[in-house]
Amino acid sequence: MKILGIETSCDETGAAIIEGQSRNKKVKILSNIVTSSLSLHKKTGGIIPEVAAREQIKYIIPVINQAIEQYDNLRANKQNSIVSDIDAIAVTTGPGLIGSLLIGVETAKTLSFIWKKPIIAVNHLIGHVYTNFIQQSDCEIQTKSLNNKPLTVNESTFPAISLIVSGGHTDLILIRNHGSIKWLGGTRDDAAGEAFDKIGRLLNLPYPGGPSIEKEALKGDPKAFNFPRPLIDSNDYDFSFSGLKTAVYRETKIIKRFNNRLTANISASVQQAIVDVLVKKTLKAVLRYNAKSILLGGGVAANQKLRDELMLNTKNQIPNTEILIPEKSLCTDNAAMIASAAFFNYKPASWKKIIANPELYFD
Ligand code: KG4
Ligand code: ZN
Repeated sequence: MKILGIETSCDETGAAIIEGQSRNKKVKILSNIVTSSLSLHKKTGGIIPEVAAREQIKYIIPVINQAIEQYDNLRANKQNSIVSDIDAIAVTTGPGLIGSLLIGVETAKTLSFIWKKPIIAVNHLIGHVYTNFIQQSDCEIQTKSLNNKPLTVNESTFPAISLIVSGGHTDLILIRNHGSIKWLGGTRDDAAGEAFDKIGRLLNLPYPGGPSIEKEALKGDPKAFNFPRPLIDSNDYDFSFSGLKTAVYRETKIIKRFNNRLTANISASVQQAIVDVLVKKTLKAVLRYNAKSILLGGGVAANQKLRDELMLNTKNQIPNTEILIPEKSLCTDNAAMIASAAFFNYKPASWKKIIANPELYFD
């Protein structure tokens, strides 16, 4: 089965075609195009929803067109039309920015109507989880394998604990099986990515703060500042990162003369504080629910420190747990993950039933 995925929940416009054969096998990417209005948001230090939506309108058709062309270049047998090759259309219906979501949703509905293909509504957060169900390159698999054996994803992956860490969300969920999800906890204030972005701004680093702080942190000492690790030992699966942001803000007020060394030390210490909390709470959930695997997802999953520490601590503390971490290029928003989620949670619907829902959460 081949699915065309469309993702427009925030500032990325994505279209991808994936192929899935069985629910025991990862899906294969046949084409994957993502463009972003990030450079515009760098100027304002954050996303202005209206600007993001206007850019989505500009990009959506060219991006879908390119995804189709990329797939066409791969096809050996060009006798069938591409449209007849595609079995269904998957689209992110939420959560996200309403203006951005509507562009993808209405485009998908139009294609579904014209092409007479079923449509599958996908929760963006579940999309991030299903990045782990996409075939990845050999070298990535090598770095992720705990026992030097390539990882496979199948029913024995469940129950799984997924940590979704993005710009808008920080959630821990229990996945009993495809489509059977229990939300365990999430952030009470800022998301992890949001904390990185806001702290990056305090430090005068380029937007988005996550990759900027990661780069600075390489030159700094993670023990230089003992920033708070909010809720790290709390008896739940919640997170809170706004206090960390306030602690950094205070530090920036106390320090009169900023220099590169201080920026690097604050970055390394902030990154360590965020990673410590994320890793500890994830492992706590794995132990409590006797999970067989950990599925990491979301833009912050691109952070090497988080990837390394999650791997190391899992190996040391719960060695039999499989850990799946997406390829870095697929951690941030893309449409391949949306099509992947649709394949494993195949609920085809008529375009008439599909609506954008910016507040969409877990069922
Ligand atoms: O998943 P995503 O692309 O968009 C949302 O759904 O929110 O995540 C974007 C977030 C941003 O907050 C960005 O700073 C963060 O992911 N991010 C990172 C890294 N790369 C992206 N955070 C830490 N380290 C990174 N390398
Ligand atoms: Zn996202």
